[in-house]
Amino acid sequence: MASEYSLQSFIQDLDRITGAGGSPAKIVAAAKPLLAKLVQQPDCLQAQYKQRGATAYGRYMVHRAPRFNITAIVWGPGDNAKAHNHDTWGLVGVVENEIQETRFRRRDDGSKAGYADIEVTAVLKNTAGMVSCLISPDDDIHEMNNVTKRDTVEIHVYGKDLADMPRLRFDFEKKQAKIFASPKYDNC
Ligand SMILES: [Fe+2]
Repeated sequence: MASEYSLQSFIQDLDRITGAGGSPAKIVAAAKPLLAKLVQQPDCLQAQYKQRGATAYGRYMVHRAPRFNITAIVWGPGDNAKAHNHDTWGLVGVVENEIQETRFRRRDDGSKAGYADIEVTAVLKNTAGMVSCLISPDDDIHEMNNVTKRDTVEIHVYGKDLADMPRLRFDFEKKQAKIFASPKYDNC
């Protein structure tokens, strides 16, 4: 069994890691094993952050800091987020159940408004205790699908607050990119 590692300890470690600066890749590499240690503990999140939302998947702000924020996401059966980018570094750790994550690579240079040519690079099954990483601008496009019959609980860590932040959602088949923004969180 993993040794005790609390959310508070993770926050302190992230504060230190992001405070030291460096590239997104360096931050993600340092934070990944720590998030893995955290999500391997089923009680790392309070019960209020493990509820699906009333009409959509649950999204909760757990901790907001100047250089990063930590959110909890709860995907119900069939919930999904079509291919999208993040415009920042990120880490997604699975706390309960599993998620299907499709990763993409963008082939065009983004210079043509509304157009995007993306290709699938991997279809992953991320199970509890696993962490996947996003590093903008070259490796931060993914799609999430809960293909199971149970809720999936995750902890997400990003270098920016994604609420209301304009970014891109892709239509893989039509080769389109549209600007969208995530709404506010369920708890703030
Ligand atoms: Fe995402």
